[in-house]
Amino acid sequence: MRFLQILRKAAASTQNRLRVSPISGNRSFFSHQIHSQSLHSASFGIAFDIDGVILRGDTPIGGSPQALKRLYDDSGALRFPYVFLTNGGGVPESKRATELSKLLGVPILASQVIQGHSPFRQLMNRFENELIIAVGKGEPARVMSEYGFKNVLSIDEYASYFKHIDPLEQYKNWTNEQAGYQRSSSREVERKNDPCSQRVEAVFVVSDSVDWSRDIQVLCDILSTGGLPGREISSQPPLYFANDDLSYQGLFPTERLGMGAFRIALESIYNRVYPNSLEYTSYGKPNPSVFKNAENVLMQLPSTINHRVNEQYPFKTLYMIGDNPSVDINGAWKAGQPWFSILTRSGVFKGKDNHPIYPADMVVDTVEEAVDYILSRETFQPHY
Ligand code: G3P
Ligand code: MG
Repeated sequence: MRFLQILRKAAASTQNRLRVSPISGNRSFFSHQIHSQSLHSASFGIAFDIDGVILRGDTPIGGSPQALKRLYDDSGALRFPYVFLTNGGGVPESKRATELSKLLGVPILASQVIQGHSPFRQLMNRFENELIIAVGKGEPARVMSEYGFKNVLSIDEYASYFKHIDPLEQYKNWTNEQAGYQRSSSREVERKNDPCSQRVEAVFVVSDSVDWSRDIQVLCDILSTGGLPGREISSQPPLYFANDDLSYQGLFPTERLGMGAFRIALESIYNRVYPNSLEYTSYGKPNPSVFKNAENVLMQLPSTINHRVNEQYPFKTLYMIGDNPSVDINGAWKAGQPWFSILTRSGVFKGKDNHPIYPADMVVDTVEEAVDYILSRETFQPHY
């Protein structure tokens, strides 16, 4: 039986018993007295995780298209403010918004897409004209260029300038083709300086590494030599990761290794081989600053319901719907009020009850159940 139907039944009987898993903390929703069924002004916003909640690969899951449609009015205007708060990425936010709009059948703005690498934008002034390397699947260099970085190379292109930097390249059919393409496209760009003699000033791991063996080798070369592969050991340039996820839920039934696993591999090797320990900064959830930024973005979104409670505390509740306890739920908990976490069983978390270490405020099977719950709760305006 659908969650909303259960809630309506419960409302009719005034004994509000919801079929959800145990709730942690001291906020209990089982004892709500329902006083009004009229829709008051919304004082809430929603942050949706993507992988394992909205999508698996490129396939919508958990009734996500229907759930999102409920956040728009009949004319297609956004009724309730929401964002996607994902640690994933690899393409510019505008492109991701277009892709998501097609997959989910609702109009999504670029400003509604917050990716793991979105905070890299803040480092633009520091590295605007410096040579930086962008690592990962998709279009990592394009992502950084669109943020305003003017001298960025993808690790694919950068590696292609150094003959024999990857001793295994000849066994990788895909990189042989790619290297040829990279070299011809970079000739068109007509680079002012030879990347081999220009110091790399920073490395940004934008999205998941495609070729761990090549990327770990080239990153060790860059980071151990002060940004000049093949030269002597020198101080390490800054290294930034878009997230530190150990694993995430893709199309395969069990979780896949994420950027955090890649970071551990790089760090373990680097620390064994070179005299100084690897230094790095990781962004993404569960950092509270990511949730603060999401709140600011939610405040700016146009919505047909006036959701501001007051200028200082615009939202009474912000819902984080995620599948990863240590990332999404832990992040919402660390961010504190007004965040309320909802854990779905559609991705990394598959447990029957709540997570023992990072318990969510609520556990449901799917994102559709989560949205039904939020809309029912906010619509009915329960009193505590
Ligand atoms: O690479 C994607 C993954 O690390 C997490 O994505 O949407 O679950 O935060 P998401
Ligand atoms: Mg996820």
